Amino acid sequence: MKKEELKIKPFLDEKTIAEKVKELGKQISKDYVGKELVVIGVLKGSFVFLSDLVRHINVPLDVEFMGVTSYEGTSSTGHVRITTDLSADIQGCHVLLVEDIVDTGMTLDYIINLLKVRAPASLKVCAFLSKPDAHIMKHKLDYVGFEITNEFVIGYGLDYNGKYRELPYVARVEINDG
Ligand code: IMP
Repeated sequence: MKKEELKIKPFLDEKTIAEKVKELGKQISKDYVGKELVVIGVLKGSFVFLSDLVRHINVPLDVEFMGVTSYEGTSSTGHVRITTDLSADIQGCHVLLVEDIVDTGMTLDYIINLLKVRAPASLKVCAFLSKPDAHIMKHKLDYVGFEITNEFVIGYGLDYNGKYRELPYVARVEINDG
């Protein structure tokens, strides 16, 4: 049996990430002054980013989660499946959807279409990472942490086959099938 070897190359450190998340929180707070927010984290990848981000948002907010799966290994299966739905009604609410990373954007398009049917007052998207060269989606991103090249990355919530979410930094991975 072939042994898979992973080379991990860090490229966004904790300090760089923390500064960007603070900046995003400040901008979001400014844009939603006088409003209440429902922040929806897309599981599982967004849980680290979301927990840091909400601590920099100073308008009243509720946190909700939506679970989806679309990836196996390092490529999209093309099929998005809901694994956990929201626990609250979002009709008439100002919704901020928080994604870990937008690659093709197919997951995002799917979730946005699903949420729009539930008639929120507004719906914006905040992505920690975005791979613009891979985008094929219809919807735009309202807030983006970092734009990155078309490579597979892990850490700060992002996984490779379920692992490495706990890394406090973001790293590129190279996979050798040795
Ligand atoms: P999309 O539908 O192609 O935009 O894929 C979005 C989802 O795929 C993200 O929410 C992640 O769960 C996963 N994904 C895409 N690119 C990466 C990556 O570089 N590292 C880890 N997960 C990724």
